[in-house]
Amino acid sequence: MALAVVLLAAGKGRRMGSDLPKVLHEIAGAPIIWHALRSATPLHPDRTVVVAGHGAEIVQKKLTEFGIDADLAIQEEQLGTGHAAMAAMPTLDDFNGNVIILYGDTPFIKPGTLEKLVQGRRDGAALAFLGFNAQDPAGYGRIVQDDLGQALRVVESKNANEDESKIDLCFGGIVCAHSATLRELLDEIKVDDISQEYYLTEIVELASKRGMRCDAILCDESETLGVNSRPQLAEAETVFQENARCRALEDGTNLLAPESVYFSYDTELDRDTVVEPNVFFGRGVKVGKGTRIRAFSHLEECEVGPDCMIGPFARLRPGAEICDGAFIGNYVEVKASRIGAGSKVRHLSFVGDADVGERTNIGAGTITCNYDGVSKHRTNIGDRAFIGSDTILIAPVRVGDEAMTAAGSTITADVPDGALALARGRQTNKPGLARRIMSKLRSAARS
Ligand code: UD1
Ligand code: CA
Repeated sequence: MALAVVLLAAGKGRRMGSDLPKVLHEIAGAPIIWHALRSATPLHPDRTVVVAGHGAEIVQKKLTEFGIDADLAIQEEQLGTGHAAMAAMPTLDDFNGNVIILYGDTPFIKPGTLEKLVQGRRDGAALAFLGFNAQDPAGYGRIVQDDLGQALRVVESKNANEDESKIDLCFGGIVCAHSATLRELLDEIKVDDISQEYYLTEIVELASKRGMRCDAILCDESETLGVNSRPQLAEAETVFQENARCRALEDGTNLLAPESVYFSYDTELDRDTVVEPNVFFGRGVKVGKGTRIRAFSHLEECEVGPDCMIGPFARLRPGAEICDGAFIGNYVEVKASRIGAGSKVRHLSFVGDADVGERTNIGAGTITCNYDGVSKHRTNIGDRAFIGSDTILIAPVRVGDEAMTAAGSTITADVPDGALALARGRQTNKPGLARRIMSKLRSAARS
């Protein structure tokens, strides 16, 4: 049967205390909705609809940025989760099949759990929805069952009486029903007297009163963590990081102090990479086999080949491409540059907008002056070249294959292959002058 996924993401998220729509806050560099939708990817939905309202333009921008192929439905006024689900239905007018409604603030649902919901439908439930046993049910909707364990209704925390408040079986925020059933039930939702909202949870009672079978499909509480506040966002980040570290270790990466390594949602480390303590992986980092990332390094949007040595204290910025067996040492910053196989930039250098060939050595304190205040220019360094310490390369400039620059040179013109460039003032020594100056200064200070 065809499958559509509807993601509710229109709420402002008042409890976040933020101008940004709640579902765009990030976990490991990706918005919460990216995580929420990812749980449905393995089910290959035929249609995906994201319901946005508060900050809809930025939501659309983020969907595009993260390559999420979804229709946007607008919920003009945020009148509750039931109302948000209604707002999605016109977009699915021509759709006939199962619909899963996901909450945009619930990032850790496992694909297997969604599969169980669809299976629940196949097994004969008109409405399958997610339940979990909460250690602390405060804030969650409670699932009220009859003596046989059939769900009768879901009561929101703020509407629950004393007995209902004691129920620890909670609503996880996901339902699955046939599109026709859903349309029928959503039409019947009445506004809640207390909150003046239309609750999606009301469809459970509406369905059970019609004699439809409603099955609560249980999952582990860890999957249902909903992000409503900053402390919950921090908790979600912690959960993501713990999972990412476990996955990296299971996939053959060696993390010397796993709890101190920060991963992005898309970090890719090949087998036998070693990551020392306190390393930060920003978005879009790929690291090849057998490479060692030494302590306190910061990497983002860069690719590191196999058998490299990075850090300690290295900074690889967007567009850094470090090829096989290259060395990037301490206090070296590389940006939008390719460092060829076997080349070494070991100490205190800035390499920006540069192409460095193979087996080239870049001495300590080298700087590519890539920016003239208006435009960026490129530096080109050939194979097996030797850049002396403290060389300033004023781009655009090219240093040829097997060429050398003398230490302390300021290179403003191209250096041909095999040539040595010497671009610094010639040294002169003044015999005795240092001593004479010092005694003069001392006697001036005494008087
Ligand atoms: C909801 C459930 C609660 C459940 C909990 C699980 C309802 C009424 N309550 O409560 O039973 O235990 O989730 O996490 O459904 N949204 C809209 N438009 C709106 C309101 C909300 O799109 O008008 C979206 C929000 O952006 C959010 C999601 O729906 O992603 C859930 O809304 P939220 O206000 O967080 O619901 P909870 O109070 O957490
Ligand atoms: Ca919530």
